[in-house]
This record gives sequence, C-alpha cells and structure tokens, in this order.
Amino acid sequence: MKAVLLAGGTGSRLRPLTKLYNKHMLPVGDRPMIGHAIAKVKEAGIRDVVLVTGRESAGAFIAYLGSGREDGLSITYRIQEEAGGIAAALAQAESAVGPDDKLVVMLGDNLFEEPLQSHLEAFAAQPDGAMVLLKRVDDPRRYGVPVFGDGGRIERIEEKPARPASDFCVTGIYFYHADVFDVIRKLKPSRRGELEITDVNNVYAAAGKLAHRTLAGWWTDAGTFDSLHEAWSRMRRRRP
Ligand code: G1P
Repeated sequence: MKAVLLAGGTGSRLRPLTKLYNKHMLPVGDRPMIGHAIAKVKEAGIRDVVLVTGRESAGAFIAYLGSGREDGLSITYRIQEEAGGIAAALAQAESAVGPDDKLVVMLGDNLFEEPLQSHLEAFAAQPDGAMVLLKRVDDPRRYGVPVFGDGGRIERIEEKPARPASDFCVTGIYFYHADVFDVIRKLKPSRRGELEITDVNNVYAAAGKLAHRTLAGWWTDAGTFDSLHEAWSRMRRRRP
C-alpha cells in the first residue's frame, strides 16, 4: 500500500493567505497542514509516500519533510507543472507506483480524527474497483455527494450539486488500484477545464465497483476560512 498526498492547487478560497504560501503549508495547530496527513499515513503503518505539488512550492515541502526519514517514511516528490484538477495531480504519481500497488489517495487539506487502518484493511480485501470514505455534513452542496441506488451502493456522485441527493459528502480520501491511471487517461476535462476526481469515481460507480465506508469521528477539509478555523479548533483541542 502506498499513500499519494495531493498538495497542489492555488488555494484561491484562502487568498490572500495563500498568496505567499501553499495552502498545505499553512499552520494548523502545532504543524503545517500537510503534517497532519503525514501523521495519518504514519499511524496507518504506510511507509511509501508520493507527494504531488506545484513547482513553486516543492522546495518548501522538501525543506519540511525531506526524504521522510525523520518520520520513518520514504517520500517521493512529483511536480504538477500546471493546475488541471485533482485527477490530473494524481496522474503525476503514476511513475512512482507499481502495477500491483494499492493506493490511498488523500487531499492534503482533509483533516480527520479516525485512524485509517480499518479502511485500509477493508480495501486490501477488495480485489478490484475503488473505495471512497463518506461523512455526513451540514452543507453537502460544497462537496461531491453520493447518490445511492438499490442495495445501498453508490450509483453515482454529483459534484457540488444545487440539490444534494443525500447529506453525505465524499471526503478527499480515496482508495484505488493502479488501474486508476488508465481511467484518468480516458477522462475528458470538465466544464471548468479540469480532470475531476468525481469523474474518476463515477467510472467505477457506473461499473458497480465503487465501494464506500463511512468515516467515524470528526472530519473537515481546510480549504476555506471557516473550515480552516474549524480545523484549528479541532487540533487545538487535541493538542492542548
Ligand atoms: C474536492 C472534491 C469533492 C470532495 C472534496 C473533499 O472538492 O472535488 O468531491 O467532496 O474535495 O474535500 P474541492 O475541495 O477541491 O472543491
């Protein structure tokens, strides 16, 4: 199992904070945001990490995390030369992933309480397809939202729907086999010109191969001022 951490993007919803710093380098509690994703990976017993970011901030990540040795990790860096969406960022990791590797892909601004271990074990027993983690949220319109079919399977995911079909969000924690790179290659850019992770997941959903589990404990992304504030208060409570 390898972890792919996606830490690029322009952080437009956090401007002007992100004028100078990559979003994932902003402090949350006692460390830069990316440090919490690293802690989750460590806690789950994963050693191999691929970190994808833009060229202008790669130096800061290398300065902070280095080879990963201090954390008992082996970190490979991949550069996303231009913004192109989450799936385009994930595609950058392909050359660092073997054909039989299983991946947990995490958006670096997703912070959460529960250890990943039980979900990794569930996915390890899943022979093919993909898996997403869901969380019940107050305002699903901000997120990818699952539409459930008969039998409770995810039929499809709607990205930021005006009228959400459920009050669950698809969190930025995804599990794939290496065939995800073939799926991304066949994707067409969305209306906003990006390769969307929701479109990747919908390929699996259409084939009846998108499993899901629900995340226990608190979860927040930290991509807006409100959610960054929430992340801060959660982490402050955890580390007095
Ligand atoms: C992305 C995904 C969305 C998901 C969210 C979780 O949205 O597109 O499906 O629910 O991450 O954090 P973004 O935050 O990039 O708008």
